[in-house]
Amino acid sequence: MERFVFGIDIGGTAIKCGLFTEDGRLKEKWEIPTERAAEGERVPQDIADTILAKCREYGIRREQVLGVGLGVPGPVSGNGFVSHCPNLGWREKNVNEIMERLTGFVSVAANDANVAALGEMWMGGGAGVKNMVLVTLGTGVGGGIIAEGKIVAGATGAGGELGHMVMNPQESEPCGCGGFGHLEQYASATGIVRMAKKRMAETKKSSVLRGKETLSAKDIFDAAKEKDPLATELVDELGSVLARALSHVAAVVEPEVFVIGGGVSRAGSVLTETVKHHYNKGIMKALQGKEFRLATLGNDAGIYGCAKLILDRIEK
Ligand code: BGC
Repeated sequence: MERFVFGIDIGGTAIKCGLFTEDGRLKEKWEIPTERAAEGERVPQDIADTILAKCREYGIRREQVLGVGLGVPGPVSGNGFVSHCPNLGWREKNVNEIMERLTGFVSVAANDANVAALGEMWMGGGAGVKNMVLVTLGTGVGGGIIAEGKIVAGATGAGGELGHMVMNPQESEPCGCGGFGHLEQYASATGIVRMAKKRMAETKKSSVLRGKETLSAKDIFDAAKEKDPLATELVDELGSVLARALSHVAAVVEPEVFVIGGGVSRAGSVLTETVKHHYNKGIMKALQGKEFRLATLGNDAGIYGCAKLILDRIEK
């Protein structure tokens, strides 16, 4: 009997879904939009609906599903409990219990960036690497720290929350979590757009970005590739703040490699090169010369890691 696993990576704008075979082959991937209204209350039902619809489409019977792995954009404790997801609106809920009730399948949730790190270690560029730090740049900024081959999830699941490191104590605008001056406010997709709008309002610098009705992180990176001065400045600032945050992390866990994932990583080598340049400036010699890679699974790292959450349970 062929058996399957669902990998569901819940993002701030889209929910990335993957149907995997038991041996880790991605059979199909698709996305549904994230309904963030009313503290994201529809999200669990939308996920259950898409999973059950996919089972019907492929004629997959209940006993053929090994489980559903979920990447959640916030700290998740060992039993699936979430206290707050800044970019989704979720407050206090047990995701494992809710998803098991709605789907009837074994469900295991973990932090989305921790799960992406697991995915990269399993099927991506992190294979064979024992000390790695993965940072995801999407609606939020997430972190997955792997030390001696193990995810550092911390006491309550908030270990590796790199997006909420305080980088600028003078910041007057709040982060989605309520704090101030967090990395996520500068280095996420939403953060760089926020900085672009601010800079355009504060300066007269000419830029192709000024004519745009809606502005995305992609627009900014594309403009930087075309040497637009304002966009170049913004990408450089993102690289600089991210590099500074990673240099702090390096001083704690000293990884062999830094991996950058999430939607913004589609910007490609301009991103890794900028971060690397800033990282090496001023850091102690022993921590210099680290490798900066793009996630080889790109934005799919999360769904792979989610599938692995379930497969690991079964293998035990
Ligand atoms: C959350 C993290 C999450 C990241 C990416 C942050 O705001 O606090 O838990 O990993 O966004 O979704």
